[in-house]
Amino acid sequence: MQTDATLPRETVRFRPEVPKPRTEDLSLFGFLRAARENPITTWMRSHFEQPVVAADGVLGRVTVVSDPAFIRYLFVENARNYRKDDLQRRILAPGLGNGLLSAEGEEWKNQRRTIAPIFSARHVTSFSDSMNLAGARVARRLARRDGAYVEAANEMTRVSLDVLERTIFTQGLQRDPDAVGRAITRFLEAIGPIDPLDVFGVPGFVPRIGRLRARPAGRFFEEVVDELIERRRTLTAGGGEAPHDLLTLLLTASDPETGNGLTDLEVKANIVTFIAAGHETTANALSWALYCLSQDEASRERLETEADAAIGADGHFALADLPFAKAVMEETMRLFPPVPFMSRQAIREDRIGRIKIPKNSTVMVAPWVLHRHRTLWDDPDAFVPDRFLPENRDAIPRFAYLPFGAGPRVCIGQSFSLQEATIVLAHVAHAVRLDLAADHPPVVPLHRVTLRPQGGLRMVARARRKAGSERSSSPSPGLF
Ligand code: HEM
Repeated sequence: MQTDATLPRETVRFRPEVPKPRTEDLSLFGFLRAARENPITTWMRSHFEQPVVAADGVLGRVTVVSDPAFIRYLFVENARNYRKDDLQRRILAPGLGNGLLSAEGEEWKNQRRTIAPIFSARHVTSFSDSMNLAGARVARRLARRDGAYVEAANEMTRVSLDVLERTIFTQGLQRDPDAVGRAITRFLEAIGPIDPLDVFGVPGFVPRIGRLRARPAGRFFEEVVDELIERRRTLTAGGGEAPHDLLTLLLTASDPETGNGLTDLEVKANIVTFIAAGHETTANALSWALYCLSQDEASRERLETEADAAIGADGHFALADLPFAKAVMEETMRLFPPVPFMSRQAIREDRIGRIKIPKNSTVMVAPWVLHRHRTLWDDPDAFVPDRFLPENRDAIPRFAYLPFGAGPRVCIGQSFSLQEATIVLAHVAHAVRLDLAADHPPVVPLHRVTLRPQGGLRMVARARRKAGSERSSSPSPGLF
């Protein structure tokens, strides 16, 4: 555990308002309602205090594990005994096809081996130009709104889509950007809420209202991606030089063991997966960071000083020059983990410590709980970016902090998104100050697949330098 001795005490710490852990059990109806409206309101105080909590409920036996050694056992040492559980698969699979996030067994293994090199450090670093361009663009857009209200959560969604667009398809989506943006958003919103039919294991052929609503948006989006794949294949078949982007990397990837490439269907499923898995998660992490900084003057000033010093002559940031910005992002994802829980199903009966895990029962690791666990963190509810500075980072046990999961199914986009969020945050901090609107209702986390500020984040923008004095690269085209 990190102790207070290692962290600064001098400033007043910001403790965001969040739903209080429950002290009494919910009825079946109460649980279903809370799970549909905002699942993070279902957690009990015991979850934040005990290393393991096992209970029998609507989902059968559910064991929530928050002990780092037990989590290592679950995700690494005995990972073979646990598969993504049916609930998670039922929610994700209809939307994401059999991309990496929802595939299982041999299919997942082959895809993971084939796709992993695409997210190597070398490739991720090569995407920093695109991230800088997108970051500079959103920063300029915000600075131009000097003195006006901005919807910061929407802006963060736009910038994360801009990054994905620039890194997946260098040449853009080549469709009406607003129509594509709306289709993606509607598609993701519809797969978002947990449907009671999924909770009760009703078979997939029974239509879910939300999914039916998502269908037209999903189809339009798939059409766009199909077209792009076809055009790229034609370009490369005709000897044209393919741009360096994730689409080319996916189309040319080969399994290091078998030499097989991905089928067009797999390429498409993974593009949809990258957009679905990567856009809202990163956007929400950025939104929460802006919110926390608006409530913590000292951290905001420190970030501005770092960003002002780090920006290069070309208006670009390098990740290595932004340790505080990175720490802000990591601390934000501790308090507001974009993926608040992960669940697995036991293939065979097992034991975690002294707790029996029945065959087919569900085991959960909930970053929402783990990151605020009373036994693992000093002052768990306070926003303290210093925890993640290089000199303090080693004191955090590896399996106490899991915004990206762990083990074989750890997030493949982890370094990509941390690099993106840090660079974008630095651009915003360099260009503009964002204060929460004075009449803003309490900012409350809403859990919909990812954790977002309910009702958005209305902020007032204040440009930090006069228009025209910005040291940044010239405006570049982008869709979002
Ligand atoms: C702040 C941003 C992000 C967060 C917090 C996040 C979180 C996660 C988590 C927790 C998992 C593991 C789920 C589990 O074990 O059940 C995961 C898996 C995954 N993520 Fe991310 N993610 C982020 C960004 C991205 C990005 C940018 C991409 C792609 C460009 C991406 C692609 C994936 C994929 C493909 C998987 C499935 C990996 C597998 O099962 O092999 N994620 N992510």
